[in-house]
Amino acid sequence: MTKAIEADRPPSGPARENDAHGAAVAVDGVDIRFGSFHAVRDISLDIAAGEFLCLLGPSGCGKSTLLSALAGFVHPHSGSLTVDGMPVTGPDPELGMVFQSSEALFDWLTVRQNVAFGPRMRGRSRAEQHKLADEYLSLVGLRHCADRFPSQLSGGMRQRVQIARVLANEPRVVLMDEPFGALDAQTRQVMQEEMARIWQTSGCTVVFVTHDIDEAILLADRVAVMTAGPAASVKSVYPVDLPRPRDESDPAARELRHALRDDIGEEVRKALLAQGLDQEEQR
Ligand SMILES: Nc1ncnc2c1ncn2[C@@H]1O[C@H](COP(=O)(O)OP(=O)(O)OP(=O)(O)O)[C@@H](O)[C@H]1O
Ligand SMILES: [Mg+2]
Repeated sequence: MTKAIEADRPPSGPARENDAHGAAVAVDGVDIRFGSFHAVRDISLDIAAGEFLCLLGPSGCGKSTLLSALAGFVHPHSGSLTVDGMPVTGPDPELGMVFQSSEALFDWLTVRQNVAFGPRMRGRSRAEQHKLADEYLSLVGLRHCADRFPSQLSGGMRQRVQIARVLANEPRVVLMDEPFGALDAQTRQVMQEEMARIWQTSGCTVVFVTHDIDEAILLADRVAVMTAGPAASVKSVYPVDLPRPRDESDPAARELRHALRDDIGEEVRKALLAQGLDQEEQR
């Protein structure tokens, strides 16, 4: 465990305001187009309340697009997206999105004010906002940076602030777009362990995009693999029937890793070929 995070972490994590639990998410026959470009086609996925679903697929296939649609930022051309049976019509505080880029913070607010933003919008008192912000900043190992501005932090630190800001809202569904991609290996490992713990404690539903097969096996209840785009769809869904905490040397984990690697590898090759980048084919 990296020192900064270990020092900052409260023993049991932030106390929740209530026993909010995850919401069920249903994606039914979703098509998304950008003008004449058909990004995703006929995607259907039922995600149970409290489930941790990882989404894997080649770069550019439409993972962020699908997540943005779930968050209400992108509107499908056809099909439906519902959360506990209610249509997603736009951004909602119950749907917390951690963006792929760490530039999503408010630069003019301090780190603490950024994390307190959600609780403030929800009408929490100043003392409560401050307390919640500091608890979630401790969780990501950045309590000591509370009075700094985002521009004074590294990319990885900004990404951790973004995660704290989303979690401080205590959303029922957490949508995470390669949230640990910018972190060094050790911090990434700590954040993965923290994420597993936060998810288990809060009971929230998580949809988590990653390129990292091991990260998916470590965290997910199920892993959905997308095809290469354009008009990407869900190719296969794998249950991860392994006890938690996960042991990557477990033979079943190794078997799953191979299956995922083959499945995604095939799609990555198709994507590279479409981009004229597959050197094997060019020889
Ligand atoms: N606003 C937009 N307008 C036009 N095309 C878009 C837009 N957003 C995404 N796309 C296109 O949709 C496709 C899917 O993009 P998306 O960002 O969802 O991929 P991704 O799977 O998240 O990739 P990566 O793994 O590299 O993050 C890409 O071809 C991209 O160029
Ligand atoms: Mg993306």
